[in-house]
Amino acid sequence: MARTVTVAVLFSGRGSNLENLIKRFHGKEFGDKRVAIAPISNRPDAPGIELAKAHGIEAAVVDHKRFPNRESFDEALVSKLEEISPELVVMAGFMRIVTDTFTSRIDAINLHPSLLPLFKGANAIEESFKSGMKVGGVTVHRVDSTLDGGEILDQRCVRIEEDDTLESFREKIHKTEHELLPDVVAKLLRLSE
Ligand code: GAR
Repeated sequence: MARTVTVAVLFSGRGSNLENLIKRFHGKEFGDKRVAIAPISNRPDAPGIELAKAHGIEAAVVDHKRFPNRESFDEALVSKLEEISPELVVMAGFMRIVTDTFTSRIDAINLHPSLLPLFKGANAIEESFKSGMKVGGVTVHRVDSTLDGGEILDQRCVRIEEDDTLESFREKIHKTEHELLPDVVAKLLRLSE
């Protein structure tokens, strides 16, 4: 019988990467492993919560606004993760910097929409697009307590063509994210079809 392998996905907003992971992995068997996606949002109004629900999955919410500082929020997040006990923790559009309280106890990976170490932070797509470079890209890296720092696990380039607009470039970035992140997850969990 297949053993359940849980992937916790932390997110804050739209949740397109969360939904992509759900479609690709949730409830599916890969050899002797069956994958379960466990979404956690730090915003009670994140649209990704409804997306998960449409796939029959209840997202947990740990609302950062209910905590007086980063450490106490991180403590609550760690407790939630320890309850779920996932094999892998993925940050996909999780717009929070975590502290040592989190990183000392949880190994996580993060998706970022630039070729790190270039363009860290919340406006990476726009900054890449306006940089004058001919390529941008997408990174998956290990999480540490620095902003978009941590060991780079994989990257993919996205060309910035003459006729690209910020919106067309943004779409290409998201499409590439939807390819790269599941590939890294499958590799880390050693999932084979
Ligand atoms: C993604 O583009 C992700 O790379 C980015 O937020 C977006 C979330 O989209 N993350 C960061 O910028 C982290 N610094 P989604 O909610 O549709 O998955």
